[in-house]
Amino acid sequence: MTDPVTLPDLLAMKRRGEKIACLTAYDASSAALQDEAGIEVILVGDSLGNVIQGQPTTLSVTLDHMVYHTACVQRAARRALVLADLPFLSYCTPEQAVRSAARLIRDGGAQVVKLEGGRERLDVVRFLTEQNVPVCGHLGLQPQAIHRLGRYALQGRDAESACRMVEDARQLAEAGAMLLVLECIPWELAQEITGAVDIPTIGIGAGRHCDGQVLVWQDMLGMSARLPRFCKDFLAGNAGVREAVSAYVREVKAGIFPGDRHSFGRDGP
Ligand code: KIV
Repeated sequence: MTDPVTLPDLLAMKRRGEKIACLTAYDASSAALQDEAGIEVILVGDSLGNVIQGQPTTLSVTLDHMVYHTACVQRAARRALVLADLPFLSYCTPEQAVRSAARLIRDGGAQVVKLEGGRERLDVVRFLTEQNVPVCGHLGLQPQAIHRLGRYALQGRDAESACRMVEDARQLAEAGAMLLVLECIPWELAQEITGAVDIPTIGIGAGRHCDGQVLVWQDMLGMSARLPRFCKDFLAGNAGVREAVSAYVREVKAGIFPGDRHSFGRDGP
């Protein structure tokens, strides 16, 4: 077995220009398969609210749900780094965030915790970092803000919100974030953010210039009722699930996925 992937390894990959392959998983069998195929980061996302629980949003996902699924994944991840989402309203203050992160790390076995938001989360990111809890930020479309946003849509298209997002990314990195997920933003903006921060960016619906890519497992296997435009069904055209994951890893590493038709531009699709 090759050595387990660490955060410094991911940073070194960014510096070398080597793409990072990430997928979501919520159970041990899927995680084992992804791990064997060479996925570097497994995200136990609160998207489990949608794809496992059948909920319309991620808001009903609790810390207990996240701990349970993180522990399932962690048992099977021999090489991949396990990143777990802090669920909705579990990180409102630095003290609450550290208690929530402790559960994901101690009881779930996560190595990094992810939280949504920009400058309004800096206190939380700083405090977690000071306690040696590695943090992954999440900018662009933030599903936990769905009721404020009104709908799941591309973010950062106008100049003002794009500028604000670049500044949020810089501040999150300065506060100690060690990874940054960029969801549903124009590829030009993702490219700018990726160049502006030293930490690896992992995109979903953010174009090919991010340092890595992530997709929801059920989406990349074509199981979802409606495939988002930025996603590709990797099972179609491949002999089985193992082959589909290997194809995903290959295409991400080679910069083939995401292609133009899986990306959004600033001036239109
Ligand atoms: O919860 C999740 O799966 C995520 C990805 C969409 C990045 O946050």
